[in-house]
Amino acid sequence: MEFTEIHIVGARPNFMKAAPVVQALNDRGAPPLLVHSGQHYDRALSEVFFEQLHLPEPDLNLGVGSGTHAAQTAALMVAFEKTFVEHGPSRVVVYGDINSTLAAAVVAAKMDIPLAHVEAGLRSFDRTMPEEVNRIVTDVLSDLHFVTSPEAVDQLTKEGIPGAGVHFVGNPMIDTLVRFHSLLDPDAAKRTLDIAGDYAVATLHRPSNVDDPGVAASIVDGLGRVAKSIPIVIALHPRGREVLEQAGLSENPGIHVVEPLGYLEFMSLMSGARLILTDSGGIQEETTILGIPCLTLRHNTERPITVTMGTNQLVGTDAAVIAETAENVLAQPPTGSTPPLWDGKAGQRIAEILLEDREACS
Ligand code: UD1
Repeated sequence: MEFTEIHIVGARPNFMKAAPVVQALNDRGAPPLLVHSGQHYDRALSEVFFEQLHLPEPDLNLGVGSGTHAAQTAALMVAFEKTFVEHGPSRVVVYGDINSTLAAAVVAAKMDIPLAHVEAGLRSFDRTMPEEVNRIVTDVLSDLHFVTSPEAVDQLTKEGIPGAGVHFVGNPMIDTLVRFHSLLDPDAAKRTLDIAGDYAVATLHRPSNVDDPGVAASIVDGLGRVAKSIPIVIALHPRGREVLEQAGLSENPGIHVVEPLGYLEFMSLMSGARLILTDSGGIQEETTILGIPCLTLRHNTERPITVTMGTNQLVGTDAAVIAETAENVLAQPPTGSTPPLWDGKAGQRIAEILLEDREACS
């Protein structure tokens, strides 16, 4: 019987993780069925990534779109169930920690379809983060766990996940960075955005930072203080734009608000920056590889290796702390090293294991 493997993507951070895995499977003559849930639907958050990362057009786009967590997750589950009934996958592969990941995992588990999770075992230990709930549930339900760093293996062991299905493979998001690194052009990014000299880059989209006007105001205050020393370019995700604007983000002449950028444009911009301020998960990893100081505007991280080995520091959301730490880091940038197996080959390792494990799915 033909082996049908469905790979699910849904939102921006999934695309950089799926691209190297899909490519490695294609190279081995085993193309998966690529399903886009439609959780992100704006060209700037979705289509442009498919083009730039050479991801094949999704075989299906379920067009689920936005909603409250319950409404979005429910709509995703209904759409995935229909898709799995129609296509009868032998295995489902999910990426990261977004609502599409959780919804596909629950549906696959209830339909008794073997499930693989790429980027398993990451924990912030903060269940107020929607992504933390998604990670825990997805890992409990998965048969195969592909892990990006050693402490995530330990975490899965602590949670009683059978070791036979846990594979430390490295970081597929870094595969994408390694692959496209030679195309990054910080000077072109600066020209396009009309920036001269040194600059910092910021991103903000976590609900805990941009849904609460008090927290958003404190961060905007912090960014404003940093902008007195170095101009900041902030590529703003649609989520939270209103609250951040109300807190006066655009009023500061040192802060340049731009639309969300494509992968190559954003990584080009980042690669020329002296400092990054962010609440993103992926950017903590990418700055570790680029060797650029990263201040994470959160109180925890599910990616501690970026702090212990990389250039990342947790600074929280207090304006004075953000400003003071930025000052210190600009005066004395930290140095870091490359975490084990973040070598550009994670996608190939994952593809090999998926192919070897096919027998177990029949
Ligand atoms: C989602 C992921 C988050 C990831 C982020 C990357 C979950 C729980 N969260 O957060 O882990 O870091 O993607 O971007 O899955 N919107 C648009 N256009 C789009 C998509 C969304 O304007 O194409 C707006 C909508 O107003 C929507 C809001 O952004 O309500 C939030 O979108 P949603 O997909 O629910 O979560 P993100 O905040 O993007």
